[in-house]
Amino acid sequence: MIKIDQELCTQDEHCVAECPAGIIKMIDKTPAVPVEMEGFCIDCGHCVAVCPGAALTLKTLQPEACLPVDKSLGLSEEHVAHFLRSRRSIRNFKNKPVEKALLQKVLDIARFAPTASNKQPVHWLFLEQEKEVKKVVSMVIDWIKYIIQNEPEMAREKNFDKVVAAYEAGGDPICRGAKHLLFCYANKTLISAGTDCAIAMAYLELALPSFGLGDCWAGYVNYAARLWPPLVEYLNLPPEMEVQAAAMIGYPKYRYHRMPTRQPASVEWR
Ligand SMILES: Cc1cc2nc3c(=O)[nH]c(=O)nc-3n(C[C@H](O)[C@H](O)[C@H](O)COP(=O)(O)O)c2cc1C
Repeated sequence: MIKIDQELCTQDEHCVAECPAGIIKMIDKTPAVPVEMEGFCIDCGHCVAVCPGAALTLKTLQPEACLPVDKSLGLSEEHVAHFLRSRRSIRNFKNKPVEKALLQKVLDIARFAPTASNKQPVHWLFLEQEKEVKKVVSMVIDWIKYIIQNEPEMAREKNFDKVVAAYEAGGDPICRGAKHLLFCYANKTLISAGTDCAIAMAYLELALPSFGLGDCWAGYVNYAARLWPPLVEYLNLPPEMEVQAAAMIGYPKYRYHRMPTRQPASVEWR
């Protein structure tokens, strides 16, 4: 399961301490994984990542395949605070389509989001064509009308009457006129599916502005993609899969000059 270069190994046992499954043991002063424990490896690569001398090779991961961590690219506290506080949901987009190659670059970053037990269960569906987004929007409106009829309390709470009125007046209160829609989905039997997809979508959202792009979570689309059979059918995902998050994507039309305040963190210190 792991191969150790004896000349490079300093027996610092960092790999032993770091393995989340606790399956790396020092055997004859060398890190090793007992055969009966191999099945517990979650392939997270921490053992390879933490080894200062690149002495450890995992069956599925060579140190040479991993980009080095460049300390000079680390962000200061100030940069991180500014970056995270200045992120905005984008609801006004330029009339310019997003190139697939550009979005592919962002998706290539979002795949580094953490997932429970490193299962990496996240899939994406990108609706590139504006007419497909419009079709989804019309189906979400159908779902909203159904809720107005059948679950009036929920409809009132969510102001669904206004949403329908805005749509019927020619607006797009669902996808805000975005040309593209991105769905994030995973196997619905996986207990962490919603969390894994939400984190992946959050990674994607944080990465988008560096590529000149922006997004807004599409909550109504997400609900309807799970609850409204015609939309479930339209998306035509494999039957074991379920949408967990959705976002409208495009080039932001405006830039923001200030960072709105938020409530203080609600924390109980014990
Ligand atoms: C799960 C989720 C669903 C959302 N759904 C929608 C939506 O359907 N339409 C919309 O305009 N904004 C939606 N938003 C965006 C929020 O309204 C937005 O994050 C919030 O107002 C704060 O603004 P900010 O993201 O610019 O900080 C959603 C956000 C989240 C996290």
